[in-house]
Amino acid sequence: MSAFTVAIDGPAAAGKGTISRAVAEHFGFAHLDTGLLYRAVGAKGGDPVAVARALTPQDLARDDLRSLGAGEAASRVAAISEVRAALVDFQRDFARREGGAVLDGRDIGTVICPGAEVKLFITASPEVRARRRWLETGGDTGAESFEAVLEQVRTRDARDMGRAEAPLRPADDAVTLDTSEMSIAQAVERAMAVIAARLGRGG
Ligand code: C5P
Repeated sequence: MSAFTVAIDGPAAAGKGTISRAVAEHFGFAHLDTGLLYRAVGAKGGDPVAVARALTPQDLARDDLRSLGAGEAASRVAAISEVRAALVDFQRDFARREGGAVLDGRDIGTVICPGAEVKLFITASPEVRARRRWLETGGDTGAESFEAVLEQVRTRDARDMGRAEAPLRPADDAVTLDTSEMSIAQAVERAMAVIAARLGRGG
């Protein structure tokens, strides 16, 4: 199969990662979690533009990139246009590789791959997303209160949607899936149906 790009965008903890991994495995596509690029830039410290231009595979392999703090740092450096520009070619090359690719992020369908064969926008209410993050961080026995996680979700949403450079928004031709009331299995099934329909029309 030649190149086939699935762009999956949406806010934090809406289910993008889970859906992207499942879809990639099912269709045999390569998967790039583009949030990791911004997380790696934010986590490394120093001048974010220089770091983005010289990002290495080792930077992406750090084991602390999934923390709430790394997400917060990522969303700060992601607002810098030179940082975003430095990461464009890598993402576009990945998207057009042979055999198909799934990229998940905030601006894949709008900026990185406006010609993607499938665009999904995965969303859920801030409360539902905060609850998922809070449970991931240990819930009642974890270090974060639900209210603190909800506040972080709202702050990050506002920054990602309000920034001048590549703000988070659905592409005009994206299919939106609101996962607030869906199980993981239902959300994955809906996403797969959209992709299968597009592949069935001749890829
Ligand atoms: O998806 P994840 O939570 O890992 O992303 C961390 C942050 O990186 C986001 O809040 C967003 O500011 C930024 N990001 C972005 N564009 C992407 C992926 C992530 O601006 N394509």
